[in-house]
Amino acid sequence: MKTTSEQQQAFPMKKKQGSSQNNKWEDHYTRKARKENFPARSVYKLQEIQEKYRLIQKGDRVLDLGCSPGSWLQYSATLVGTNGRIAGIDQKKVTVQLPSHVTVHTGDIFSIHSVMGQEMIHPYDVVLSDMAPDTTGNKFVDSARSLALCEAAFDIVRHHLKSGGSFVCKIFQGEDFKQFADSIQKEFHKSKIYKPKSCRKASKEIYIIGIDKKQEEICPDTASGHP
Ligand SMILES: C[S@@+](CC[C@H](N)C(=O)[O-])C[C@H]1O[C@@H](n2cnc3c(N)ncnc32)[C@H](O)[C@@H]1O
Repeated sequence: MKTTSEQQQAFPMKKKQGSSQNNKWEDHYTRKARKENFPARSVYKLQEIQEKYRLIQKGDRVLDLGCSPGSWLQYSATLVGTNGRIAGIDQKKVTVQLPSHVTVHTGDIFSIHSVMGQEMIHPYDVVLSDMAPDTTGNKFVDSARSLALCEAAFDIVRHHLKSGGSFVCKIFQGEDFKQFADSIQKEFHKSKIYKPKSCRKASKEIYIIGIDKKQEEICPDTASGHP
């Protein structure tokens, strides 16, 4: 069972008609998610990304960083099918029902190896990061915290994403956004910056997408066995 605060986060309560306050977070996508049994409206962001770039394929291994309350897990599980595999990690528990080819770990991304153990041995075809920090309302603090999560996700991508694989990374646009986008561009053959229509207009969030990770360069001297 979800706690009340988790439910409110996923589906903010609709105010009764005639209430003096309007619920500013209730919108078309929130209602659609509720109707389609997804725990969060963010599922439509990944759906838009998938429809545009076709990153996730049947049979893929997908790593979902910041996966709670679980709508990206549910959606990616249908895309990869039962021959694929999804692993997720989040500080918050995931309480939604998930098929058996999805595994979820509760813990901090900064300790991913101890939290996920064996799950990090084989490389992934796709790494998703929809992580968001607790916001303070101060745009400099929030974007710096978002960047720290993105850098941690990118570090995981460098070591655990296959060559040819893809990376989707949510970031709050701030001062260092361009520098981070450039570092993604260097690691992948193609990179895109995309704001799905389902993102709230007022939100600073945007997605950086890396497509077709480059092969790791091997130094010719090391390859021939000479130091
Ligand atoms: C917008 S929600 C993700 C929603 C998810 N994509 C879905 O569709 O259900 C962002 C998540 O990032 C998680 N998060 C933030 N910092 C984290 C960290 N250091 N380690 C793990 N998860 C983190 C939060 O707990 C939160 O659940």
